[in-house]
Amino acid sequence: MAIVIACANQKGGVGKSTTVVNLAAALGQKNKKVLCIDSDAQGNLTSGFGIKKKNLDSTVYDVLLGKRSIAETAVPTKFKNVSVVPATSDLAGADIELIDIDNRSNRMKMAVLTVKAAYDFILIDCPPSLSLLTVNALCACDAVLIPLQCEFHALEGLSQLIESIRLVKQRFNPAIDIEGILFTMYDGRLGLTHQVVNEVRKHFPNKTLQTVIPRNVRLSEAPSHGMPVIYYDKSSKGSESYIQLANEILLKHKTDVRGQK
Ligand SMILES: Nc1ncnc2c1ncn2[C@@H]1O[C@H](COP(=O)(O)OP(=O)(O)O)[C@@H](O)[C@H]1O
Ligand SMILES: [Mg+2]
Repeated sequence: MAIVIACANQKGGVGKSTTVVNLAAALGQKNKKVLCIDSDAQGNLTSGFGIKKKNLDSTVYDVLLGKRSIAETAVPTKFKNVSVVPATSDLAGADIELIDIDNRSNRMKMAVLTVKAAYDFILIDCPPSLSLLTVNALCACDAVLIPLQCEFHALEGLSQLIESIRLVKQRFNPAIDIEGILFTMYDGRLGLTHQVVNEVRKHFPNKTLQTVIPRNVRLSEAPSHGMPVIYYDKSSKGSESYIQLANEILLKHKTDVRGQK
Protein backbone atom coordinates (compact mmCIF):
# COMPACT_ATOMS: atom_id res chain seq x y z
CA MET A 1 0.00 0.00 0.00
CA ALA A 2 1.34 3.39 -0.95
CA ILE A 3 2.30 5.97 1.60
CA VAL A 4 0.55 9.16 0.51
CA ILE A 5 2.48 12.37 1.17
CA ALA A 6 1.08 15.84 0.47
CA CYS A 7 3.69 18.53 -0.10
CA ALA A 8 2.09 21.69 1.24
CA ASN A 9 2.84 25.26 2.18
CA GLN A 10 0.47 28.08 1.31
CA LYS A 11 3.43 30.26 0.38
CA GLY A 12 4.49 30.21 -3.23
CA GLY A 13 8.10 29.69 -4.28
CA VAL A 14 9.24 27.73 -1.23
CA GLY A 15 10.22 24.58 -3.13
CA LYS A 16 7.08 22.40 -3.08
CA SER A 17 7.12 21.40 -6.75
CA THR A 18 10.91 21.10 -6.78
CA THR A 19 10.68 18.79 -3.79
CA VAL A 20 7.99 16.56 -5.30
CA VAL A 21 9.78 16.22 -8.66
CA ASN A 22 13.14 15.41 -7.13
CA LEU A 23 12.00 13.30 -4.22
CA ALA A 24 9.86 11.24 -6.62
CA ALA A 25 12.78 10.72 -9.00
CA ALA A 26 15.08 9.71 -6.15
CA LEU A 27 12.54 7.25 -4.72
CA GLY A 28 11.93 5.86 -8.20
CA GLN A 29 15.62 5.25 -8.68
CA LYS A 30 15.57 3.28 -5.46
CA ASN A 31 13.06 0.89 -7.02
CA LYS A 32 9.99 2.41 -5.42
CA LYS A 33 6.93 2.80 -7.60
CA VAL A 34 5.92 6.44 -7.38
CA LEU A 35 2.86 8.36 -8.52
CA CYS A 36 3.00 12.16 -8.44
CA ILE A 37 -0.21 14.13 -8.52
CA ASP A 38 0.00 17.73 -9.69
CA SER A 39 -2.66 19.68 -7.83
CA ASP A 40 -1.58 23.17 -8.82
CA ALA A 41 -3.00 24.95 -11.88
CA GLN A 42 0.49 26.26 -12.61
CA GLY A 43 1.46 22.71 -13.53
CA ASN A 44 5.10 23.11 -12.49
CA LEU A 45 5.28 19.48 -11.45
CA THR A 46 3.92 18.40 -14.84
CA SER A 47 6.41 20.50 -16.80
CA GLY A 48 9.22 19.59 -14.37
CA PHE A 49 8.96 16.03 -15.67
CA GLY A 50 8.98 17.21 -19.28
CA ILE A 51 5.31 16.39 -19.88
CA LYS A 52 3.82 18.43 -22.71
CA LYS A 53 0.53 19.92 -21.57
CA LYS A 54 -0.89 20.27 -25.09
CA ASN A 55 -1.14 16.56 -25.75
CA LEU A 56 -2.95 15.57 -22.60
CA ASP A 57 -6.15 13.56 -22.77
CA SER A 58 -7.20 14.21 -19.22
CA THR A 59 -5.79 15.83 -16.11
CA VAL A 60 -6.23 16.02 -12.36
CA TYR A 61 -9.16 18.34 -13.00
CA ASP A 62 -11.15 15.48 -14.57
CA VAL A 63 -10.17 13.24 -11.67
CA LEU A 64 -11.37 15.70 -9.02
CA LEU A 65 -14.66 16.23 -10.81
CA GLY A 66 -15.15 12.47 -11.08
CA LYS A 67 -15.00 12.34 -14.88
CA ARG A 68 -11.88 10.17 -15.08
CA SER A 69 -10.04 7.80 -12.78
CA ILE A 70 -6.40 8.23 -11.77
CA ALA A 71 -5.57 5.02 -13.66
CA GLU A 72 -6.94 6.59 -16.85
CA THR A 73 -5.16 9.89 -16.28
CA ALA A 74 -1.70 8.96 -14.99
CA VAL A 75 1.04 9.18 -17.60
CA PRO A 76 4.40 7.43 -17.37
CA THR A 77 7.47 9.71 -17.36
CA LYS A 78 10.86 9.07 -18.94
CA PHE A 79 12.22 8.60 -15.44
CA LYS A 80 12.44 5.29 -13.64
CA ASN A 81 9.32 4.19 -11.76
CA VAL A 82 7.62 7.60 -11.85
CA SER A 83 4.15 8.35 -13.23
CA VAL A 84 2.31 11.64 -13.08
CA VAL A 85 -1.28 12.77 -12.91
CA PRO A 86 -0.76 16.07 -14.73
CA ALA A 87 -2.36 19.48 -14.25
CA THR A 88 -3.02 22.35 -16.61
CA SER A 89 -4.55 25.78 -16.16
CA ASP A 90 -8.00 24.07 -16.29
CA LEU A 91 -7.50 23.38 -12.65
CA ALA A 92 -7.78 27.07 -11.80
CA GLY A 93 -11.58 26.79 -11.88
CA ALA A 94 -11.75 23.64 -9.77
CA ASP A 95 -11.92 25.40 -6.42
CA ILE A 96 -15.17 27.09 -7.40
CA GLU A 97 -16.64 24.09 -9.22
CA LEU A 98 -15.96 21.76 -6.32
CA ILE A 99 -18.02 23.89 -3.95
CA ASP A 100 -21.28 22.48 -5.34
CA ILE A 101 -20.15 18.88 -5.42
CA ASP A 102 -20.86 16.20 -2.83
CA ASN A 103 -17.93 15.26 -0.66
CA ARG A 104 -16.03 18.23 -1.97
CA SER A 105 -13.15 17.81 0.49
CA ASN A 106 -12.74 14.10 -0.17
CA ARG A 107 -12.58 14.00 -3.98
CA MET A 108 -8.82 13.43 -4.05
CA LYS A 109 -9.04 10.82 -1.31
CA MET A 110 -11.67 8.80 -3.18
CA ALA A 111 -9.54 8.87 -6.32
CA VAL A 112 -6.29 8.00 -4.55
CA LEU A 113 -7.84 5.01 -2.76
CA THR A 114 -8.40 3.29 -6.11
CA VAL A 115 -4.66 3.21 -6.88
CA LYS A 116 -3.09 3.00 -3.43
CA ALA A 117 -2.27 -0.66 -3.89
CA ALA A 118 -0.42 -0.05 -7.16
CA TYR A 119 2.32 2.23 -5.78
CA ASP A 120 4.83 2.52 -2.94
CA PHE A 121 4.56 6.31 -2.70
CA ILE A 122 1.99 8.81 -3.89
CA LEU A 123 3.20 12.42 -3.69
CA ILE A 124 0.74 15.29 -4.08
CA ASP A 125 2.00 18.75 -5.04
CA CYS A 126 -0.26 21.43 -3.56
CA PRO A 127 -1.01 24.95 -4.80
CA PRO A 128 0.27 27.99 -2.89
CA SER A 129 -2.91 28.48 -0.87
CA LEU A 130 -5.05 26.81 1.77
CA SER A 131 -7.80 26.35 -0.79
CA LEU A 132 -10.12 23.41 -1.38
CA LEU A 133 -7.41 21.79 -3.51
CA THR A 134 -5.03 21.81 -0.56
CA VAL A 135 -7.78 20.57 1.76
CA ASN A 136 -8.37 17.70 -0.69
CA ALA A 137 -4.68 16.81 -0.60
CA LEU A 138 -4.63 16.96 3.21
CA CYS A 139 -7.70 14.71 3.42
CA ALA A 140 -6.15 12.21 1.00
CA CYS A 141 -2.73 11.91 2.60
CA ASP A 142 -1.10 9.95 5.38
CA ALA A 143 1.43 12.68 6.04
CA VAL A 144 2.32 16.25 5.11
CA LEU A 145 5.76 17.29 3.97
CA ILE A 146 6.29 21.01 4.56
CA PRO A 147 9.04 22.74 2.60
CA LEU A 148 10.12 25.88 4.39
CA GLN A 149 12.33 28.57 2.98
CA CYS A 150 14.62 30.01 5.61
CA GLU A 151 13.34 33.57 5.52
CA PHE A 152 12.00 36.07 7.97
CA HIS A 153 8.25 35.38 7.71
CA ALA A 154 8.58 31.61 7.42
CA LEU A 155 7.26 30.89 10.89
CA GLU A 156 4.10 32.96 10.51
CA GLY A 157 2.86 30.93 7.57
CA LEU A 158 3.91 27.72 9.24
CA SER A 159 1.65 28.21 12.28
CA GLN A 160 -1.30 28.80 9.98
CA LEU A 161 -0.55 25.67 7.99
CA ILE A 162 -0.18 23.54 11.14
CA GLU A 163 -3.54 24.90 12.34
CA SER A 164 -5.14 23.85 9.02
CA ILE A 165 -3.65 20.38 9.39
CA ARG A 166 -5.09 20.23 12.92
CA LEU A 167 -8.56 21.15 11.62
CA VAL A 168 -8.40 18.57 8.84
CA LYS A 169 -7.29 15.98 11.42
CA GLN A 170 -10.25 16.84 13.62
CA ARG A 171 -12.88 16.83 10.88
CA PHE A 172 -11.77 14.56 8.06
CA ASN A 173 -8.54 12.69 8.47
CA PRO A 174 -7.73 11.58 12.03
CA ALA A 175 -4.67 9.61 10.90
CA ILE A 176 -2.89 12.56 9.26
CA ASP A 177 0.65 13.08 10.44
CA ILE A 178 3.40 15.59 9.73
CA GLU A 179 6.06 13.89 7.65
CA GLY A 180 8.44 16.69 8.46
CA ILE A 181 9.46 20.27 7.91
CA LEU A 182 12.08 20.47 5.18
CA PHE A 183 14.40 23.47 5.04
CA THR A 184 14.84 24.49 1.41
CA MET A 185 17.11 26.96 -0.39
CA TYR A 186 19.34 26.74 2.65
CA ASP A 187 22.30 29.06 2.68
CA GLY A 188 24.50 28.45 5.71
CA ARG A 189 26.46 31.66 5.07
CA LEU A 190 23.48 33.79 6.07
CA GLY A 191 22.89 34.55 9.72
CA LEU A 192 19.16 34.71 9.12
CA THR A 193 19.16 31.09 7.94
CA HIS A 194 20.49 29.87 11.29
CA GLN A 195 18.07 32.10 13.15
CA VAL A 196 15.07 30.68 11.29
CA VAL A 197 16.25 27.09 11.58
CA ASN A 198 16.81 27.43 15.33
CA GLU A 199 13.46 29.09 15.83
CA VAL A 200 11.58 26.41 13.89
CA ARG A 201 13.45 23.61 15.69
CA LYS A 202 12.54 25.22 19.01
CA HIS A 203 8.83 25.50 18.16
CA PHE A 204 8.51 22.18 16.41
CA PRO A 205 10.98 19.76 17.96
CA ASN A 206 11.01 16.33 16.31
CA LYS A 207 9.23 17.73 13.28
CA THR A 208 12.17 19.08 11.31
CA LEU A 209 13.86 16.69 8.91
CA GLN A 210 17.60 16.14 9.16
CA THR A 211 18.08 16.62 5.45
CA VAL A 212 18.44 20.23 4.39
CA ILE A 213 18.13 21.29 0.74
CA PRO A 214 20.79 23.85 -0.18
CA ARG A 215 20.26 26.67 -2.61
CA ASN A 216 21.64 25.16 -5.78
CA VAL A 217 21.53 26.56 -9.28
CA ARG A 218 21.24 23.08 -10.85
CA LEU A 219 17.92 22.62 -9.04
CA SER A 220 16.56 25.77 -10.64
CA GLU A 221 17.91 24.88 -14.11
CA ALA A 222 16.63 21.29 -14.25
CA PRO A 223 12.90 22.11 -14.77
CA SER A 224 13.59 24.05 -17.97
CA HIS A 225 15.09 20.81 -19.33
CA GLY A 226 12.06 18.85 -18.12
CA MET A 227 14.24 16.73 -15.87
CA PRO A 228 14.64 15.95 -12.19
CA VAL A 229 18.06 17.07 -10.97
CA ILE A 230 19.36 13.54 -10.41
CA TYR A 231 19.07 13.03 -14.18
CA TYR A 232 20.16 16.56 -15.12
CA ASP A 233 23.27 16.68 -12.94
CA LYS A 234 23.66 13.72 -10.67
CA SER A 235 26.77 15.00 -8.92
CA SER A 236 25.30 18.38 -7.95
CA LYS A 237 24.65 19.34 -4.36
CA GLY A 238 20.95 19.59 -5.15
CA SER A 239 20.91 16.04 -6.44
CA GLU A 240 22.77 14.71 -3.41
CA SER A 241 20.41 16.47 -1.05
CA TYR A 242 17.25 15.00 -2.62
CA ILE A 243 18.79 11.51 -2.62
CA GLN A 244 19.48 12.03 1.08
CA LEU A 245 15.87 13.15 1.59
CA ALA A 246 14.62 9.99 -0.13
CA ASN A 247 16.82 7.90 2.18
CA GLU A 248 15.57 9.73 5.25
CA ILE A 249 11.95 9.20 4.24
CA LEU A 250 12.50 5.54 3.40
CA LEU A 251 14.16 5.04 6.76
CA LYS A 252 11.33 6.83 8.50
CA HIS A 253 8.88 4.40 6.97
CA LYS A 254 11.22 1.52 7.68
CA THR A 255 11.26 0.56 4.06
CA ASP A 256 14.46 -1.10 2.93
CA VAL A 257 16.74 1.19 1.00
CA ARG A 258 17.29 -0.98 -2.03
CA GLY A 259 19.70 0.12 -4.67
CA GLN A 260 21.78 2.12 -2.22
CA LYS A 261 25.42 1.20 -1.94
N1 LIG B 1 17.03 24.50 -3.47
C1 LIG B 1 16.85 25.36 -4.47
N2 LIG B 1 17.88 26.06 -4.97
C2 LIG B 1 17.70 26.94 -5.99
N3 LIG B 1 16.54 27.18 -6.58
C3 LIG B 1 15.44 26.51 -6.11
C4 LIG B 1 15.54 25.56 -5.06
N4 LIG B 1 14.31 25.05 -4.81
C5 LIG B 1 13.47 25.66 -5.69
N5 LIG B 1 14.15 26.53 -6.47
C6 LIG B 1 13.59 27.42 -7.51
O1 LIG B 1 12.73 28.34 -6.86
C7 LIG B 1 11.52 28.53 -7.58
C8 LIG B 1 10.32 28.13 -6.74
O2 LIG B 1 10.38 26.73 -6.47
P1 LIG B 1 9.09 25.81 -6.57
O3 LIG B 1 9.52 24.42 -6.26
O4 LIG B 1 8.41 26.02 -7.89
O5 LIG B 1 8.23 26.39 -5.39
P2 LIG B 1 6.66 26.17 -5.06
O6 LIG B 1 6.22 24.92 -5.73
O7 LIG B 1 6.62 26.10 -3.56
O8 LIG B 1 5.96 27.40 -5.58
C9 LIG B 1 11.68 27.73 -8.85
O9 LIG B 1 12.15 28.55 -9.85
C10 LIG B 1 12.70 26.67 -8.49
O10 LIG B 1 13.43 26.23 -9.62
MG1 LIG C 1 4.62 24.65 -7.09
